[in-house]
Amino acid sequence: MPKKRILTGDRPTGKLHIGHYFGSLKKRVELQENPEYDPYILIADVQALTDNFNNPEKVRKNVREVAMDYLSVGIDPNKTTIYIQSMIPEVAELTVFYSNLVTIARLQRNPTVKTEIAQKREIFGESVTYGFLGYPVSQAADITAFEGKLVPVGEDQLPLIEQCREIVRKFNSIYGDVLVEPEAILSGNKRIKGLDGNDKMGKSLGNAIYLSDSEEEINKKVMSAVTDPNRIKKDDKGNPDVCMVYYYHKLFSTEEETKTVCSECKAGERGCVACKKQLAKNISDTLKPIRERRAYYETHPEEVDKILIEGTKKAQATARETMKKVKKAMMLDYFE
Ligand code: TRP
Ligand code: SF4
Repeated sequence: MPKKRILTGDRPTGKLHIGHYFGSLKKRVELQENPEYDPYILIADVQALTDNFNNPEKVRKNVREVAMDYLSVGIDPNKTTIYIQSMIPEVAELTVFYSNLVTIARLQRNPTVKTEIAQKREIFGESVTYGFLGYPVSQAADITAFEGKLVPVGEDQLPLIEQCREIVRKFNSIYGDVLVEPEAILSGNKRIKGLDGNDKMGKSLGNAIYLSDSEEEINKKVMSAVTDPNRIKKDDKGNPDVCMVYYYHKLFSTEEETKTVCSECKAGERGCVACKKQLAKNISDTLKPIRERRAYYETHPEEVDKILIEGTKKAQATARETMKKVKKAMMLDYFE
């Protein structure tokens, strides 16, 4: 049995935070341990440029940050191929071929693209770029260039995988059965809320805990977390369900601790400051091995480079094979 190729990736627009950890990284580390899988992870710098075209320094810098985040959470380069998207020219070529197989109306209807365009008014104003509107096409190229079969993603990415499947079916119906149709698998917790209670965690919102955060940074952030606003005095009875500290206890503390937090809070037997201190400690302890590995890679950038170079070389060879089949099917295999 050939191994099942798994394809995932991230846009390098910032360091990764615990939302990424619970949303996808943890699952990717688990999946790579299954010998039936052959996981590839792309650092999607070209996709990052679709909404950061005016900020190439940011993308450039974050390619290495994201690579270090992967390595520090335990993505093992001997099991997972990590590569840089822009170094695979076949992905750009496929994007051009696929752009004939998708209509502008269909892209405009893609719910993920729609939401993102609405969120990015300050970049695009009233009129979105061709590149951004078309990024689902390039994401379809990301997946199919490597014959990705399984794509572990968060819920927000499902419309992109659906669009990729449509492109694959269209391609195969016109040019012959060449492309592999991927399947999405949900990769973990739904979105993790920010410390401020916002549904989304992110840099621009200032409500995220990064995998690289120091103990002091974690303490400071947890201290600013939103708690039950109706609790003023220490012995006021609280409602943990509206408290972000409790929400995070459920992610980082043992089941027993979490139960105690809940009952003591409800009974008014627990101070919020002590509750936060306990949480900060648990988050710090959980992230400690990640932080330590990250510190190692920060002082050994040549090792990170080597991993990226090797992963990218391997990915280039894989994409070249797919491209041969695609060009043959499309009658573009001149002088072969
Ligand atoms: N769109 C994904 C994100 O924003 C990143 C990505 C690019 C991706 N290409 C991919 C994910 C291919 C899965 C498969 O997080
Ligand atoms: Fe939140 Fe803990 Fe305060 Fe209850 S005691 S409101 S769970 S911080």
